[in-house]
Amino acid sequence: MKKKFETRAIHVGQKPEELYGSVSLPIYQTSTFKQEEFGEYTYDYSRAGNPTRNALEKTIASLEGGADAAMFASGMAAMSAIFTLLKQGDHLILSGNVYGGTYRLLTQIMEDMGLSSSWIDTSDSELVQATVASNTKMIVIESPTNPMMQLTDIEAVSQISKKNNLLLVVDNTFMSPYYQRPLSLGADLVMHSTTKYINGHSDVIGGVVIGSDSEIMDRLHFIQMSVGAVPGPFDCWLTQRALKTLAVRMESHNHNAMRLAEKLEDSGKFKNIYYPGLPSHPQFELATRQQLNPHGKPGYGGMLSVELNSVENARQFVKGLEIFPLAESLGGVESLVCHPATMTHASIPKEIRVELGITDGLIRLSVGIEHVDDLLMDINNALSKVV
Ligand SMILES: Cc1ncc(COP(=O)(O)O)c(C=O)c1O
Repeated sequence: MKKKFETRAIHVGQKPEELYGSVSLPIYQTSTFKQEEFGEYTYDYSRAGNPTRNALEKTIASLEGGADAAMFASGMAAMSAIFTLLKQGDHLILSGNVYGGTYRLLTQIMEDMGLSSSWIDTSDSELVQATVASNTKMIVIESPTNPMMQLTDIEAVSQISKKNNLLLVVDNTFMSPYYQRPLSLGADLVMHSTTKYINGHSDVIGGVVIGSDSEIMDRLHFIQMSVGAVPGPFDCWLTQRALKTLAVRMESHNHNAMRLAEKLEDSGKFKNIYYPGLPSHPQFELATRQQLNPHGKPGYGGMLSVELNSVENARQFVKGLEIFPLAESLGGVESLVCHPATMTHASIPKEIRVELGITDGLIRLSVGIEHVDDLLMDINNALSKVV
């Protein structure tokens, strides 16, 4: 019988090592490997493969329900490997408010190499179908999006994708495989910035792509080896270690974020609160159906965004926080606050940002796993600075 998620996070790909019986998988900190004979080896060179990296790939593939995974040196390296699956002249459809770096990669690098893209509201399935052109090859969605927390019905888009013979890619960074497994909803590839929840301790940059089609995964491993944007063994080991506690961390992120979202909503000081776990979120029903832990219970994650009526109030709110440092990134055990307009989404032109709802008063919170009473107190203090 297939073992449960929590057990697989700790054991898949991590049998005790044979030489000394080390229970923790060794860090194979080596660039090269001795070969027994001409052409006789398991590993030859760490850009092509490394046991510490391969162990991590096995664990992540299992948690996402995929057959294989390829690790990269960052989430953006993982995304660029995905775009490299395409050819000059191909067209992609993407969720309108994806991570700013994905937008920058496509519009300022990949488009110069002959890809074209349409950025649309992928929560509107009819619009997705209407945007498919004869040269469309891929749909890329983030659900929920960063930072507007908009969802896309992954299963509905996967039907359109299959009907048109496209590849459906889901950036699952915000939910982690604990709360959402897009391959089971019909996606072809899942990617993560493992920098976020998968590693979860704000100390490693990494990325991964997971899939089940062996031809596509072989090509991704070929790109991984040929382009060479691979993570080092120590970074893989740290990520592997962190992954063992993903389930307990995610439950705690979810619990804390829910309490904070309710508190922020009750305060009446915000123009908008974006958290899919609030019944007032327009896609609460979809979130409750789509974002499930491995035991079938809904979860909404640790990310939420709030909009204040002015940049001055946003600044005062952030200054009033003590536990949440103003910092890029998310998904770590420690809470963080971010101002998307000047940070994560600064590379998106202002008029597009405003159209997407990323105003200068928008603040994004990555709710950590500190004690919720302390987080609530911190938020209370910060709210008292807002007029
Ligand atoms: C949703 C999402 N995807 C991709 C990335 C890029 O990942 P990385 O910073 O690891 O390159 C990020 C980074 O913030 C992200 O939030």
